[in-house]
Amino acid sequence: MWIYMCFYSIMMTLFLQNHLAISSSYDENATHLSPKMQKLALFQFKLSFTINSSTAEFCEDAPSVSKTMNWSMSSDCCTWDGVTCDHMTGNVIGLDLRCSHLEGSIRPDSTLFNLSFLQNIIFDSNSLHGELPLEIFHLPNLEVLSLEFNSQLIVKLPKHKWGSSSNLQLLALTQTTLSGGIPDSIGYLKSLTFLSIFQCNLSGPIPRSISNLTQLTYLNLGFNLLSGQIPDSLANIQNLGILYLNNNNFSGPIPRSIGNLTQLLLLDLDSNYLTGQIPRSVGNLTQLTLLQLSSNYLTDRIPDSLASLQNLQLLSLGRNNLIGPSPSWISNCRELSFLDLSENSLTGPLPSNLILPNLTFLDLSHNSLNGTIPSWFFHSPLLTYISIDHNEFTGQVYVFGSLEMYSLKYLSLSHNNLTGGLEHLPWKILTYLDLQSNMLQGSLPASICNSSSLDILNLSHNNLTGVLPSCTRGLNYSLSVFDLRMNSIEGSLPSALVNFRKLRSLNLHGNKLEGTIPLSFSKFDYLEVFDVGNNQINDTFPLWLETLQNLQVLILKSNKFFGIITNVSKIEHPFPSLRIIDLSNNEFSGPLPAKYIQNFKGMMNKDANKMERTYMGNSLYSDTMMLVVKGVEIEFIRILTIFTAIDLSRNKFEGEIPEYIGNLESLRYLNLSHNNLTGHIPSLVGKLLMLESLDLSFNLLVGVIPQELTSIYSLSHLNLSQNDLTGHIPRGPQFSTFENSSYAGNFGLCGPPLSRRCIRETQQEEFEDDEDDGFFFSGFTWESVAIGYGCGVVVGFVVGYVMFMAGKPKWFTGIIARELGLKIRRLEISVGYQPNMNRILI
Ligand SMILES: *[C@@H]1O[C@H](CO)[C@@H](O)[C@H](O)[C@H]1NC(C)=O
Ligand SMILES: *[C@@H]1O[C@H](CO)[C@@H](O)[C@H](O)[C@H]1NC(C)=O
Ligand SMILES: *[C@@H]1O[C@H](CO)[C@@H](O)[C@H](O)[C@H]1NC(C)=O
Ligand SMILES: *[C@@H]1O[C@H](CO)[C@@H](O)[C@H](O)[C@H]1NC(C)=O
Ligand SMILES: *[C@@H]1O[C@H](CO)[C@@H](O)[C@H](O)[C@H]1NC(C)=O
Ligand SMILES: *[C@@H]1O[C@H](CO)[C@@H](O)[C@H](O)[C@H]1NC(C)=O
Ligand SMILES: *[C@@H]1O[C@H](CO)[C@@H](O)[C@H](O)[C@H]1NC(C)=O
Ligand SMILES: *[C@@H]1O[C@H](CO)[C@@H](O)[C@H](O)[C@H]1NC(C)=O
Ligand SMILES: *[C@@H]1O[C@H](CO)[C@@H](O)[C@H](O)[C@H]1NC(C)=O
Ligand SMILES: *[C@@H]1O[C@H](CO)[C@@H](O)[C@H](O)[C@H]1NC(C)=O
Ligand SMILES: *[C@@H]1O[C@H](CO)[C@@H](O)[C@H](O)[C@H]1NC(C)=O
Ligand SMILES: *[C@@H]1O[C@H](CO)[C@@H](O)[C@H](O)[C@H]1NC(C)=O
Repeated sequence: MWIYMCFYSIMMTLFLQNHLAISSSYDENATHLSPKMQKLALFQFKLSFTINSSTAEFCEDAPSVSKTMNWSMSSDCCTWDGVTCDHMTGNVIGLDLRCSHLEGSIRPDSTLFNLSFLQNIIFDSNSLHGELPLEIFHLPNLEVLSLEFNSQLIVKLPKHKWGSSSNLQLLALTQTTLSGGIPDSIGYLKSLTFLSIFQCNLSGPIPRSISNLTQLTYLNLGFNLLSGQIPDSLANIQNLGILYLNNNNFSGPIPRSIGNLTQLLLLDLDSNYLTGQIPRSVGNLTQLTLLQLSSNYLTDRIPDSLASLQNLQLLSLGRNNLIGPSPSWISNCRELSFLDLSENSLTGPLPSNLILPNLTFLDLSHNSLNGTIPSWFFHSPLLTYISIDHNEFTGQVYVFGSLEMYSLKYLSLSHNNLTGGLEHLPWKILTYLDLQSNMLQGSLPASICNSSSLDILNLSHNNLTGVLPSCTRGLNYSLSVFDLRMNSIEGSLPSALVNFRKLRSLNLHGNKLEGTIPLSFSKFDYLEVFDVGNNQINDTFPLWLETLQNLQVLILKSNKFFGIITNVSKIEHPFPSLRIIDLSNNEFSGPLPAKYIQNFKGMMNKDANKMERTYMGNSLYSDTMMLVVKGVEIEFIRILTIFTAIDLSRNKFEGEIPEYIGNLESLRYLNLSHNNLTGHIPSLVGKLLMLESLDLSFNLLVGVIPQELTSIYSLSHLNLSQNDLTGHIPRGPQFSTFENSSYAGNFGLCGPPLSRRCIRETQQEEFEDDEDDGFFFSGFTWESVAIGYGCGVVVGFVVGYVMFMAGKPKWFTGIIARELGLKIRRLEISVGYQPNMNRILI
C-alpha cells in the first residue's frame, strides 16, 4: 500500500512543480475582495483552526511549528508561510497548508470562499474534519484542489456543474471519505489532467461521462468499492498514461476498447471480479511498462498479441484461470523484471530459449508445468526470487547450484518431482529454501553449515537419509525454521544443533532418530515449536526444556521415552508458554506430571476466545502438527495460536487425575486415554469451559460421571469408554449428542443413550437442543476444515487447506505492490534502485 502512496506523491510533486511554475491568468472582472480584505479573510480562516502538533506525524519534513505562526496582521499576507500571491496584483492565489499542524473543519460560511482568486488549495496530513462544503468546488479560479490523507474528511462531489469546472486541473482526494459515488457531473471538468480518488470508500459505478475528461493523464480509483463494468467509453481518454482501477469490485470483461488507450504506461486492474479473455487489443498498448491483471477470473489462453509489449517491466497475470502453455513470446519483453503467472492452469514445459537479462522476480507456482528446468533460468543474473512450487517439474535439484554466483535469496521448489541430493545448492546466499514434497535423496551436506543467511529451511516430505549436521563453526546463523519432518534421518540429535541458536521451530517429526535429547537444547532461547514425534528416541522426559520461555509446542509422541516424570521442578514457572504438549504413545510411567499441569500458564487464558485468530509462524512458513482426533491421526497444516492440547495417552501413567486440571481454563483438547488412571473423574473438569475433545477411555476410572461436565457447551467429542464408571449418564444439551460408543465398556453406567435403564429412572426429561456448537465448530472454521480434509472427524482448529490456497496470503500482494511501485519509480523518475529482498522477505 505505501508504495502506491509513495509513487502517488511523486506524481503529485511533479505535477505541482510544473503547475505552480506557470501562474496562469484569472478572471479580472468578477467582483473580488481587495488584497487587504483578502488578508483579513485569510486571518479569520486561520483562527477557525486549532494547532495540534501531532497532526503532521506523517510528514517527512514538517516544520516544528505551524506555518500559520507567522501569519500576523502587521505583515503582508503575501509573505506568510504557505500563502502565494500574484506578483502583479497582490491577490492571494495559492494556499499550501501541507504539514502545518492545523486541525479543524471548514464551515460553509468560511472566509476561505471569499478568496475568489485562489487557484491552488493544498491541505493534508489528517487535519480536516467533518464534511467539506460544496462551496470549495465553486471557487471560480480553482485549478488545484488537493485534500489527500484527511481521513476524517467527508467529501461529496457536486451533482451539478461546478463553478470551477472549466479550470480545475488536479483533484486529489486520496484517503478521504467520499460519499455518494462519482456523479455524472464529473464530466464537466474538461481541463482535468490528474484525478486521484484512491482508497476513499467510493462505491457505485464509474459514470460514462468520465469519457469527457479527455485531458486526463492520470486516473487512480484504486482500493475502493466501485462496481459494475469497466466502461467502454474510458477509451476516449486518449491521453491517459496511468490507470489504476485495482482492488475494486469491477465485474464483466475487460473492454476491448482498452486497446485504444495507446498512451498507457501503466494498467492496473488487479483484484477485481473481471471475467472473460484478456482482450487481444491489450497488445496495442505498446508503451506499457506495467500490466497487472492478477487476482481476477480471467480465462482462456494468454493472447500472443502481448508479444508486442516490448517495454514491459512488470507482468502480473497471477491468480486467474488462464490455460495453455507458458507464453514463449515473453522473450520479446527483454526489459521484464517482474513476472507473475502463478495460480493458473498453465501446462507443459517452460520455453527453452527465454533470455530475460533483467528478471528479478519470477513466480510460476501453482500451475501444472512440467519437464526439466531450462537453462535460461541460470542466465538471469538478477534473479532474487524464484517460486515454481506446486508444479510437476522433474530433474535434478543441483542445477540451482549455479545461481550461487548471483543474488538469489528466495527459492521455492516445493511440491514438484525433483530428485537428487542437496550438495550443490546455493547455501551461502539463500535466505529462504523450500524443497518440501519432492523426491530428494541423500544426506544433509556439510555445506549446510555455510548457510549463514538462511532463515527458513524446509526439507520436509522427501527421502533424505544420513545424520543431522553438526555445525560447530563460529558462524552466526540466522536460521529460524528447520523443518525436516517425514524423511529418513538417522542417528542421534547432535548437541551442536544448538549453534542454530535463533531457531524458532525445529521439526524432526517422522524420521529414524535415536538416542537422547541433548542438554544443550535448553539454550534454544527462541524455540517455540519442538517436534521429535514418531522417531526412536530412547530417553527420560527432557526436564531441562522447562526453562525455555518461548516454547509453545512440545511433541515427543511415538518414541521410546520412559520413566517417571518427576514432580521436582527447578524453577517456579516451568514451561511458561506451553500450549500444546503431546507425550502420547511412549512408556512414561508413574503419576501424571502434576507440577507441570498445575503451571501451564499458556493454557490458563480465560480470554482466549476473545483473541484474534492467528496462526503460528508467518507468511513464509506455517507450523504444522499431527494430532489424533477421534482415533484418527490428522495433519494440521496450520496451528491457531489459541489452540491448546494435552495428550498423554498410550503410556503407563497411573494414579488419579489431579483436581487442578480444572485450572487450565483455556484447554481445548485433553486425551489421557490408554493409561492406568484410577479414582474418580474430578468434578473440576467441568471448569474447562473451552474443552472440545475429552478422551479418558481405557483407564481404571470409577464413580459417576460428574454432572458438571454437562456445562461444557463446547464439548463435541467425549470418550469415557472402557472404565469402571457407574450411575446415571448425566444429561445436558451437549451430552444428548454423544452416542453409545462414548460410554461403552462401563458396565455400571445406565440411562440414555445406553439401552440399559437405571433402576430408579424417573420420567424422561426433555432437553432443548439449542445447537450451541461451541467455538470451533461454529461458522466457517468447521466448514472449511471439512472441505480441506474431506472428512468430518476434525476438531476445527485450523482453517482448511482449500481455504488457504484460494487466496495467496497478504504478503504476496505486498511484494507485488512494492515491486510495482519500485519499477514505476524507476520508470518515471529514473532513480536507480537495488532490490532489497531481505526487506521484502521479512
Ligand atoms: C473585463 O471588462 C472589460 C471592460 O468591461 C472588458 O473589456 C474585458 O474584456 C473584461 N475581461 C474579461 C477577462 O472578461
Ligand atoms: C491531535 O491530533 C492527534 C492525531 O490526529 C489526535 O489523536 C489528537 O486527539 C489531537 N489532539 C487534539 C487536542 O485534538
Ligand atoms: C514567514 O515564514 C516564511 C518561511 O519561513 C518566511 O519566508 C516569511 O518571510 C515569514 N513571514 C513573516 C511575515 O515573518
Ligand atoms: C459529455 O460530453 C458530451 C458530448 O460532448 C455532452 O453531451 C455531455 O453533456 C457531457 N457531459 C458532461 C457531464 O459534461
Ligand atoms: C477504438 O478505436 C477504434 C479504431 O480506432 C474505433 O473504431 C473505436 O470506436 C474506438 N473505440 C472507442 C470506445 O473509442
Ligand atoms: C489493435 O489490435 C487489434 C487486434 O490485435 C488490431 O486488429 C488493430 O489493428 C490494432 N489497432 C491499432 C490502432 O493498432
Ligand atoms: C507435460 O504436460 C503435457 C501437457 O499436460 C503432457 O502432454 C505431457 O505428457 C507432460 N510431459 C511429461 C513428461 O509428463
Ligand atoms: C536491464 O539490464 C540492463 C543491463 O543490466 C540495464 O542496462 C538496463 O537499464 C536494464 N533495464 C531496466 C529497465 O532495468
Ligand atoms: C511425480 O511423482 C508422483 C509420485 O511419484 C507420480 O505419481 C507422478 O506421476 C510424477 N509426475 C511426473 C510428472 O513425473
Ligand atoms: C525412498 O527411497 C527408497 C530407497 O531408495 C525407496 O524405496 C522409496 O520408495 C523412496 N520413497 C519415496 C517416497 O520416494
Ligand atoms: C533404551 O536404552 C536402554 C539403555 O541404552 C536399553 O536398555 C533399552 O532397551 C532401550 N529401550 C528401548 C525401548 O529400546
Ligand atoms: C495397568 O496395570 C496393570 C496391572 O498393574 C498392568 O498389567 C497393565 O499392563 C497396565 N496397563 C498399562 C496400559 O500400563
